[in-house]
Amino acid sequence: MTLKSHISGWSLFFLAAFSPGVHLQRHGSSSQPSSDSELPSEAQISRPVLQPSEAPPSTGTYLLNDRVGKPCIRATMGAEYIVTEKKKTWYFNLDPSSVKTGGNCDKETAVLSLTLPNQAASLQFTFRKENNFIYVTNVTAHVSPQPVCQGCANKTYSGVITHKKLFTAANSQSFKCKSGKLLLMSSELKIRLVPLQMQAFSVPNRDYGPKMECWADFNKRAIPIILGAVAVGLVVIALLTFQFIKDRRRPGYDRI
Ligand SMILES: *[C@@H]1O[C@H](CO)[C@@H](O)[C@H](O)[C@H]1NC(C)=O
Ligand SMILES: *[C@@H]1O[C@H](CO)[C@@H](O)[C@H](O)[C@H]1NC(C)=O
Repeated sequence: MTLKSHISGWSLFFLAAFSPGVHLQRHGSSSQPSSDSELPSEAQISRPVLQPSEAPPSTGTYLLNDRVGKPCIRATMGAEYIVTEKKKTWYFNLDPSSVKTGGNCDKETAVLSLTLPNQAASLQFTFRKENNFIYVTNVTAHVSPQPVCQGCANKTYSGVITHKKLFTAANSQSFKCKSGKLLLMSSELKIRLVPLQMQAFSVPNRDYGPKMECWADFNKRAIPIILGAVAVGLVVIALLTFQFIKDRRRPGYDRI
């Protein structure tokens, strides 16, 4: 309880400190703790920096509890924002360590919100439970990066997809896609989730339930097995053919 109020006190302080037009007095009669070193670093509060080249995003696991404290959404993912600006493609990876997890869980809908401090970026999933299946029906995202050119206007890239059936899994199961998924949010924003695993509504206390594998992962597993079987089959046919020819050519074994 005391820890909680302490934390919310600090977040209020941060909010106030970095809201435009609000200036906190750090000296004088301020009752804040003396050390300024606990302030977030510049990088944490400034706008995300778009990168000209791609790097694999860090994977984070995000957990949301319902009102009685039971886990109701668990999601493990790396998230990459892909921005198209001035006919060029730019990349921004969500850093799991600075993400704040929020949302809510009801009987048939559940929302997971991932946000960066200062509204620098967000990613939100709306889950729906229908009969015995669970899927993501809406996704919204935005990123407010530093402009890609000096002196360019600040711009927010955002997008939303609605009324979809994404990442479907049976009740008590998780959806898993190591190969990742690309979401087309708008003409200027795509989100790549790689890897991806999520489960909503009934979620085990630790880890995930049985997994529903996406097609890409299944194919990655199955294709080598199928190719292997085909190769073995070809070798067997070749051996049999060879044996057959040898038998027919054996001297003293002339058939009439
Ligand atoms: C963009 O936003 C930053 C802070 O969020 C501000 O310092 C800067 O002046 C803005 N740039 C423009 C061109 O509006
Ligand atoms: C998804 O988004 C649409 C459009 O904003 C909204 O009408 C709908 O209620 C949302 N679905 C859920 C389950 O919240």
